Amino acid sequence: MRKKVTVVGAGNVGATCAQEIARRDYADVVLVDIVPNFPQGKALDMNQAAAVLGYEPNIVGTNGYEETKGSDVVVITAGRPRSPGMSRDDLVQTNEAIVASVTKEVVKRSPKAIIVVVSNPLDAMCHVAKAVSKFPKERVIGMAGILDTARFSAFIAWETGMSIKDVTAMVLGGHGDQMVPVVSATTVGGVPLEQLVARGRIAKMVERTRKGGGEIVNLLKTSAWYAPGAAAAQMVDAICLDEKRVLPCTVLLEGEYGVNGLYFGAPVKLGAAGVEEIVKLKLTAGEKAQLRNSAAAVRDVVGVLTHK
Ligand code: NAI
Ligand code: 2OP
Repeated sequence: MRKKVTVVGAGNVGATCAQEIARRDYADVVLVDIVPNFPQGKALDMNQAAAVLGYEPNIVGTNGYEETKGSDVVVITAGRPRSPGMSRDDLVQTNEAIVASVTKEVVKRSPKAIIVVVSNPLDAMCHVAKAVSKFPKERVIGMAGILDTARFSAFIAWETGMSIKDVTAMVLGGHGDQMVPVVSATTVGGVPLEQLVARGRIAKMVERTRKGGGEIVNLLKTSAWYAPGAAAAQMVDAICLDEKRVLPCTVLLEGEYGVNGLYFGAPVKLGAAGVEEIVKLKLTAGEKAQLRNSAAAVRDVVGVLTHK
């Protein structure tokens, strides 16, 4: 029997994620949105695309939650995206109310699901989903690090002229401008980045990665969706297929990396149980200091939440 994945929010990120998952052929997909006819129309289009792209899962679009019953994974992308001049954190109040109400509805019908949070401000919205669901921390996980790492990897591939497939990188910390691309653990084909690219050029790529979301908002007047949708689908793959992938995800840290009681980006082993291990990566003193800055920025946003 196919797995069942619900994606709440049928907008840019949600629809991209839903189709990426359907194309993998292992899960039926339920797409939920509050806008009448919107998820139904997108689901119909995706079901018809199946004839061309060759996938078999059923995609259901709905404005309610009955169809989501018994989902294995629920991806929450509902909420407002960023517009120019807005930081991810500016979204906090609007999206807190949305993520809280969505979480309440999904957990009633899928009490064993694993929740993947995408809505921004990401780290804070993970606290909201955790508080409302009362799920164990292993089953409430945020998507940000895969996206941020993908951006860093693209810049490294362009800079070195080497294949993006051979870039190994890891961006940790909060999903904000203080995120931490871990340069000491970044390699291309096994060769440390610091041996391939001058320090000043690396610093520029680190800065562009940190501002990577804003760069796209300035171009599109809304936030990115292809890479975010694909990144969330990669987490769903790891969970549904029990892949044990080591991926940067946003998880509740309880002392790891010197951070306590905060959702924060860290490398995790992701499998059928959700977060199966928080992987410990050796960091330089400078990287540890950057993580402390990033944690302070996340704490400021979490501090204004009603659900934490
Ligand atoms: P969008 O505006 O295209 O889609 C959001 C959808 O959520 C809309 O269709 C809207 O009708 C729906 N929605 C709003 N309230 C709802 C509710 N109560 N129940 C069900 N659906 C509801 O926005 P987009 O671009 O898809 O972004 C979605 C969220 O993901 C934003 O908060 C954005 O900032 C965030 N995001 C996070 C990323 C990350 O790395 N974690 C990356 C990109 C976006
Ligand atoms: C991004 O990084 C805005 O979080 C969104 O593209």
